[in-house]
Amino acid sequence: MIEHDVLVIGGGLAGMSAALHAKQAGADVAMLSKVYPTRSHSAAAQGGINSAIGVEDSWEVHAYETVKGSDFLGDQDAIEILCREGIEDIFALEHYGVIFDRDDEGLIHMRGFGGTDKSRTCHVGDMTGQTILHVIYEQLLRLEVQSYNEWFVTTLLMEDGICYGAVAMEMISGKLEIIKAKSIIICTGGCGRVYEPSTNGLIVTGDGLSLAYRAGAVLMDMEMVQYHPTTLPANGFLITEGARGEGAYLLNANDERFMLDPRYEATTLAEKASRDVVSRAETIEIREGRGINGCVLLDCRHIKDRILEAFHQISELAKDYAGVDITNEPLPVCPGMHYLMGGIKTDIDGRCYRYNGEGIDPLPGLYAAGEAACASAHGANRLGGNSLLDCVVFGRRAGVHAAQYANDTNDVNISEQVIQTEEQKIADIFARATDERPATLRLEMGNIMHEFTGVFRDESGLLESQRRIGLVRERYPQISVDDKGRVFNTDLVAALELNYMLDCAEVIIASCLARQESRGAHTRTDHPKRDDENWLKHVVIYRTDEGPAIDYLPVIITKWQPELRQY
Ligand code: FUM
Repeated sequence: MIEHDVLVIGGGLAGMSAALHAKQAGADVAMLSKVYPTRSHSAAAQGGINSAIGVEDSWEVHAYETVKGSDFLGDQDAIEILCREGIEDIFALEHYGVIFDRDDEGLIHMRGFGGTDKSRTCHVGDMTGQTILHVIYEQLLRLEVQSYNEWFVTTLLMEDGICYGAVAMEMISGKLEIIKAKSIIICTGGCGRVYEPSTNGLIVTGDGLSLAYRAGAVLMDMEMVQYHPTTLPANGFLITEGARGEGAYLLNANDERFMLDPRYEATTLAEKASRDVVSRAETIEIREGRGINGCVLLDCRHIKDRILEAFHQISELAKDYAGVDITNEPLPVCPGMHYLMGGIKTDIDGRCYRYNGEGIDPLPGLYAAGEAACASAHGANRLGGNSLLDCVVFGRRAGVHAAQYANDTNDVNISEQVIQTEEQKIADIFARATDERPATLRLEMGNIMHEFTGVFRDESGLLESQRRIGLVRERYPQISVDDKGRVFNTDLVAALELNYMLDCAEVIIASCLARQESRGAHTRTDHPKRDDENWLKHVVIYRTDEGPAIDYLPVIITKWQPELRQY
């Protein structure tokens, strides 16, 4: 049995930030990741990280715009922390060694992004996430933080309602180990690949969301799934919002900048309106016949110099996967699944919660941060550039708090019996010889989710998706794998991941059905208006033997009352 004070599950930016700060707070901390940590999905974040460090900006303006971006569903205490503390965190990143791009005066260059007319997105070309991830990983190596790379968690360990560790498989050997810890921080990212296509890496399979849900943690606002306006139709790859932030246009088949059409209520910011607004507008253009093969066009020709200077990655992606030189011709793009605003409900210190029969209270020992978590800093729609910031700020806070909790908590005695239960799960999968393969079910699930729970939803489609996902779930116990060995068995991991993904699909659909209004990224064509009177509240969801159960929590409002949202 392995033992640590703090176990961080997930090695992306939130996980690294949590591990770094738990270590600096004096804890014996370990980080576990199912991939080599610098390959985590945070590396795919292109355009940048927001911070109101400009002289004409302030954290209050950033916070207000984040609240507005969230369509007033975000908890304003969390948003204030994100925007206020994020300023110091950007300077800390610089001091660790992140070389942000500079302007002509040598100051950090900030580009425009969605939902604001300010330039507040700090960046390293269009490879910001990758750069930050490598720098923080260097810090973890420097501090000799134990890292279990290419380990996969099969269950969290619970005793008397307290979380005290996890069972994980070392993939190189296939061996299961108990990792005991006084606090566990889930930083496994979102569940992007529950949808097909998605901007997310193949590894983003909702593992932590499902592990926490199965351990009794409450999830929140799972209906809030963000579609990014500019993705490649061939494979869902991201084309950064930074391009529009620096002036690129969106055109329809008639060569019109449709975002200037007053019906989209975004004539001021146009292409730089928030993502929910732009993705809806694009979908309407395409559905009404003004698209081109299911796409609109991203026109970067007039910003050629900036493209050549600071957008190397998207230039190459466009060339390689669409055959388009974006400095010379417009690029076909479409809205694609990108981000989960919902997640494991946490407070501002990353603590998770459970349902106690009447309401919620903290689930001792369990923390979450980053996209896996829902501190509700994004509400119904996240602003671009706020995700990396969320990982840094709330990863840090969770790390510090979890270290303190571990310090104040007594040891638990545990039995090694649990290993047998987990071994049996694997043996059952190996014992089957059927034609049902995880990849087939995964693709079916992704297509169902995209068709019925994408940019537009309605009750009959959601019920149909519930029925179809139910059928996929019924087939899950029949899946078998071709590789029956234990050494680096990615076939087995895919089978286990699919179980996690189905949990996520089920709770997303149940939450979509529950919220009978349109707000942010959740557009119900059968309930087209935002309804503050009845729905200015969070949808929380927890697991019961009968399936997901729904409850509600109030939105925390500190300064900004809901108002009409136009851009
Ligand atoms: O468009 C982008 O570069 C994505 C950034 C984000 O999701 O924050």
